[in-house]
Amino acid sequence: MTDLLDHLRTAVGAEHVLTDDADVAAYVVDWTGVHSGRALAVVRPGSTAEVADVVAACHAAGAAIVPQGGNTGLVGGGVPDSSGGQVVLSLGRMRTVRDVDPVAGTITVDAGVVLADVQAAAAGAGRLFPMSLGSEGSCTIGGNLATNAGGTAVLRYGMTRELVLGLEVVLPDGRVWDGLRALRKDNTGYSLKDLFIGSEGTLGVITGAVLRLFPATPRHATAWVAVPSVDAAVALLGVAQQHAGAHLATFEIANRQALDLVLTHLPGASDPLAGPSDWYVLVELAGASSEDGLDGALEAILGAAVEADLATDAAIAGSPAQRSALWALREGISEAQKVEGATLKHDVTLPIADLAAWASSIGPVLDEVLPGVRPVTYGHVGDGNLHYNLSSPVGRDDDLRAAERDLSTAIYDSVAAGNGSISAEHGLGRTKAVAGASYKSEVEVDLMRAVKAALDPAGLMNPGVLLPPA
Ligand code: FAD
Ligand code: MLT
Ligand code: ZN
Repeated sequence: MTDLLDHLRTAVGAEHVLTDDADVAAYVVDWTGVHSGRALAVVRPGSTAEVADVVAACHAAGAAIVPQGGNTGLVGGGVPDSSGGQVVLSLGRMRTVRDVDPVAGTITVDAGVVLADVQAAAAGAGRLFPMSLGSEGSCTIGGNLATNAGGTAVLRYGMTRELVLGLEVVLPDGRVWDGLRALRKDNTGYSLKDLFIGSEGTLGVITGAVLRLFPATPRHATAWVAVPSVDAAVALLGVAQQHAGAHLATFEIANRQALDLVLTHLPGASDPLAGPSDWYVLVELAGASSEDGLDGALEAILGAAVEADLATDAAIAGSPAQRSALWALREGISEAQKVEGATLKHDVTLPIADLAAWASSIGPVLDEVLPGVRPVTYGHVGDGNLHYNLSSPVGRDDDLRAAERDLSTAIYDSVAAGNGSISAEHGLGRTKAVAGASYKSEVEVDLMRAVKAALDPAGLMNPGVLLPPA
């Protein structure tokens, strides 16, 4: 492997090949702290040509590659295994916005550009790049594409996949596929870009992308609404869609446990409502101008909701600062739960009509497995996606760790029985690769393995992630 390291140093510059423990430390443990490994080296190429050189050298040496962007993934897919033989390929130096075309509605970026910087570049051109995640200050477009990320704007704009026009990818043998097309219509064969989107680094290294932009929506009407149940939240979604139509931009849910953690652990957070509620919904309407009548539509939604017993109270943001404070209650949940202690994440989706029944039936099942376990339930209810994240019974993190297999199995079995999915948006990574395959048919797993074998016959791209070993 000395030859490989020498080659990598020549390819990207010795200062961009990290091997000292202190230098690699931040790259080998994930955001949750649950997954950590060892790396042969962390390599930080600065261009697509350098990525190609690095990948070709690893291919020739038989060294496995773990692509990494902002390392905010939640399923352990961006960190190496414990072998010490894998090369972490960080896209962190590839941060150029290559082009913004407001008329065509496109932005072309390097894969290492941070999501918030893509949003800012779009805003600078008077356009909107709608993808929005709690991690947007550190996650990268490459990681968003590789995980087909979701977030809080899916309801109106769709998953990452729907925001992509073209891709540039370094293939596992080091060849470059230039698919950076900005065409809205292109029916010339298999949609190769769709293979790489959501592939979690297992089919190639994404180095660039052409993304779609939308008209800017600088006007907002935002409310934090107390609702009695998930059932009521789902019914309220229907009311909101009826009154706001295409202006409905956000519809997120959180239970009281989630809000309590935010109020406890996030400095400056305060409850906007006088009394407690079991559930809350963050509703936001967004539009281009004051002509859109957002405030009136929000009031109509809330009035109809109270009338129909779907809401008991609401706080409406009266200023940008109040809007930010309401959003912080939602976006702060992951961080607050991490500060609280051990967390067992589940990112599930079911047909939206079945979500409420599922959420009320699963709690007692889990309490049988681990009495006192605390469901911190929140997420993108408008998309049928709940983050059913468990915190330990107070002060008993070891018990949560000991019971995690049984708890996750109970959740996954019930989701599968309800025709749902065990990962709505975070992907399978290392955490769920085995479970993911076990809930798919033999035919589906065979097809996935065939795709993997066709693109990465040597099996060197992020092995053990997304698909379990054969
Ligand atoms: P990384 O964590 O570095 O990598 C993730 C995966 O992508 C790995 O498998 C890695 O190998 C692969 N990869 C990374 N870059 C490339 C590349 N250039 N080419 C090929 N493969 C690559 N996710 C959601 O979907 N919705 C949310 O609402 C959401 N909220 C979050 C909130 C918080 C506070 C945090 C910490 C995370 C959240 N996430 C969410 C998860 C995470 O931010 C996303 O999965 C994000 O898309 C990962 O981007 P990244 O650049 O950090 O990727
Ligand atoms: C979110 O929507 O905040 C994240 O995807 C949830 C998580 O951190 O589990
Ligand atoms: Zn989410």
